[in-house]
Amino acid sequence: MRRIALNVTAAAAFGLLASSALAADKSVEMLHFWTSGGEAEGVRALKDALAAKGIEWKDAAVAGGTGANAYQVLRSRLAAGTPPSGAQMHIQETLAWANQGLLRDLSPLAEKDGWRKEILPAIQSNYEVDGKWVAVPVTMHRSNWLWYNSALLMKVGAEPPKSWDEFNAIADKLKAAGITPLALGGQNWQYGDLLESVIVAKGGADFYRKIVAGDLEAIKSDTMISVFDQIAKLRGYVDANSPGRDWNLATAMVINGEAAFQIMGDWAKAEFALAGKKPGIDYGCVASPGTDKDFIWLVDNFAFFNLNDKAAEEAQNTLAETVLDPKVQVDFAIKKGSIPVIDNVDATRLDACGQKSYEDRKNAATTNGVVPSIFHNAALPAAQTGVYLDVVSEFFVTPSMTSKDAVEAIVTGLGQL
Ligand code: GAL
Repeated sequence: MRRIALNVTAAAAFGLLASSALAADKSVEMLHFWTSGGEAEGVRALKDALAAKGIEWKDAAVAGGTGANAYQVLRSRLAAGTPPSGAQMHIQETLAWANQGLLRDLSPLAEKDGWRKEILPAIQSNYEVDGKWVAVPVTMHRSNWLWYNSALLMKVGAEPPKSWDEFNAIADKLKAAGITPLALGGQNWQYGDLLESVIVAKGGADFYRKIVAGDLEAIKSDTMISVFDQIAKLRGYVDANSPGRDWNLATAMVINGEAAFQIMGDWAKAEFALAGKKPGIDYGCVASPGTDKDFIWLVDNFAFFNLNDKAAEEAQNTLAETVLDPKVQVDFAIKKGSIPVIDNVDATRLDACGQKSYEDRKNAATTNGVVPSIFHNAALPAAQTGVYLDVVSEFFVTPSMTSKDAVEAIVTGLGQL
């Protein structure tokens, strides 16, 4: 916190600090990566709710799923001493910035508003560093979803697959009928999302926990080999234009009937909704194959920077209070495809997929099936996640690489950290 405060003071002395001007006109400048059509709808819901309280949301949006580009911009702005009021970030970034003392302590607000009673108990420990609340959770997503185009499945007489064997059989049928089975954006995190779903499917939640814990026996196991064998099979089910494609363009392929399936977190649902598609009619949402009882979660947080300005702090506090308002929690989740981070809400307002997610999380909690996402920075620090990202993306685009090679590359990569 001190470094930013010093930088901010220095910048102000040179007349460079825009933030105090922002604060004076009651606004918050938020750096985020919600730039797809559906994501922008979510931002609009927050903006409107905040505007109703007299605070303007100023956009500092940086495109790129999972926020890798946005985090880069944030690092530059912090280094330059010109932080935004706040930023969207996942759990691991929140912890990393907080450990450097860069985030505002929200404890007084948390205490005043009873966050401990409101926020889902299962995620609370991720927000406390040295006994201080370092961010406010905004919304919860699930990464292990399978989205499908109902008409295309009907065309080949298929039901949504419950296992990877079923998926492969349907994908072969689709391919034979000239239909691209899997819409995929060839970007490293999108390969990563496939990987975490397949790990849970093949090994179960406890096996996944062992992988997250760096258990070498689990990493080198036959189960992990079978995980990569399945990822290798998926290479044959994507179209030639997959490399580099953004996730929302892959979702559009399922929406438009150019591909049958996509494995993607529930932010994809916002794109279906924006296109006027109805769950259960035009498209379907089921857990990714073999993960029906499991819930791979991730949370988007807002963390705030110390701008040394009372009005700026008040605007930040108002935003934090706004996002935790039970009505705003649901309004935002409806637009964004996510579920609320508090329990005291009217979940019946969510659509069918949202309600399924809400129920699935509760049920998975009773069977110990709730696990944090690796590739959306809930489970592991950036360095470890980076090893998995490198290996799975190289593996996907290198057919000569065997599953054993992939597992060995993970062991080597982790060993070098
Ligand atoms: C996730 C993020 C979601 C969603 C998605 C695609 O990492 O938590 O809110 O936006 O990326 O951009």
